[in-house]
Amino acid sequence: MIEEKISQKAKNIKPSSTLAVNKKAMELVAAGEKIINLSVGEPDFDTPDFIKNAAIKALNEGFTKYTDSSGIKQLRQAICEKFKRDNNLDYQPDQIVVSCGAKHSLFNALFALCDEGDQVIIPAPYWVSYPEMVKLAGGIPVICSYKENFKMDINHLKKIISEKTKVLVLNSPSNPTGIVYTKDELEQIAEIVLKHQIIVISDEVYEHLVYGGLKHVSIASLSEEIKKLTVVVNGVSKTYAMTGWRIGYLAAELSLAKAIANIQSQTTSNPTSFAQKAALAALTADQSFVLGMVKEFEKRRNYIVENISPLIHYCKPDGAFYVLLKIGNSSSTELAEKLLVEEKLATVPGDDFGAQGFIRISFATSMENVKETVKRLNQFAERTK
Ligand SMILES: Cc1ncc(COP(=O)(O)O)c(C=O)c1O
Repeated sequence: MIEEKISQKAKNIKPSSTLAVNKKAMELVAAGEKIINLSVGEPDFDTPDFIKNAAIKALNEGFTKYTDSSGIKQLRQAICEKFKRDNNLDYQPDQIVVSCGAKHSLFNALFALCDEGDQVIIPAPYWVSYPEMVKLAGGIPVICSYKENFKMDINHLKKIISEKTKVLVLNSPSNPTGIVYTKDELEQIAEIVLKHQIIVISDEVYEHLVYGGLKHVSIASLSEEIKKLTVVVNGVSKTYAMTGWRIGYLAAELSLAKAIANIQSQTTSNPTSFAQKAALAALTADQSFVLGMVKEFEKRRNYIVENISPLIHYCKPDGAFYVLLKIGNSSSTELAEKLLVEEKLATVPGDDFGAQGFIRISFATSMENVKETVKRLNQFAERTK
């Protein structure tokens, strides 16, 4: 009876598969199984103490009330400085909206942009939440195919752009593939976007997790014209190991930033007051402390690519902390189930990322687990070849 009352909008939404696998793996661990959980989408490091202490100080000083619904001015100013420092982008604090995680920023942006039936292009393989958020916002997800190297098939992109296309979602470095778009590739994409005047939502949450001396480039930094069309989304979750604090932010052209700020003011209001102070401490500190974590991720990535069996099909990740891989010709779900039962590895099936036949592993786990994972994946590939 109550089920009938649930909106079609809510019924159309799939639960987050990454969170579901994580839950299942945790249940198995609780039941005494020695599972290596590779489904995690967060750094395995703790939030640095100086960030925690900033929140504790804020609490002790009574900073526990509502704030400006777009985030405290000091934090929005610090975010403008971050954009200048890291991306050579100039924004004013009024163009920044701080939200409860980058996920929330993405949702707000899509909600502010999509009218019923507007099309949003999402290049596969994509982060699981994009299509569902688009649907919630009233838009229609249109999936762009990928090439061998997991990068966007530009010819397909050109083909699927229609009069209804409102937004292109870009995610570099990418979850789930770890690909990082080069400046040249971004220029190619920007040219198409400018020609059709499409808004780009550029999800840059993994910007600092890049390897092999690569540097992340924000598409917004390519020209003033493309900057106007771009909503840059970022957050503190991945860079500072702050996933539970729920602070993300976006920068956009002023009228769009105001529309997004209005939506937030009528829904969640401000993100948590003292978490904003913690984010402020993270963003304004000397950033060299991030390098230690990045170095460790790079070591693990290198171990995987240097030791993984040639029987396993994958693409070397240049960023983030995931590897999307394929063993044999099973479906994603079959492969994930077999790896869980036979090798005690909890992975995420690639179907929900738009990557049939693939599974995603995360190397946000100890080096010991990484080594054991490679061993088990290789023995599985050998056994099933
Ligand atoms: C590509 C991508 N964007 C956004 C997010 C959300 O990050 P946050 O914790 O800031 O909401 C994630 C988290 O997994 C992600 O992988």
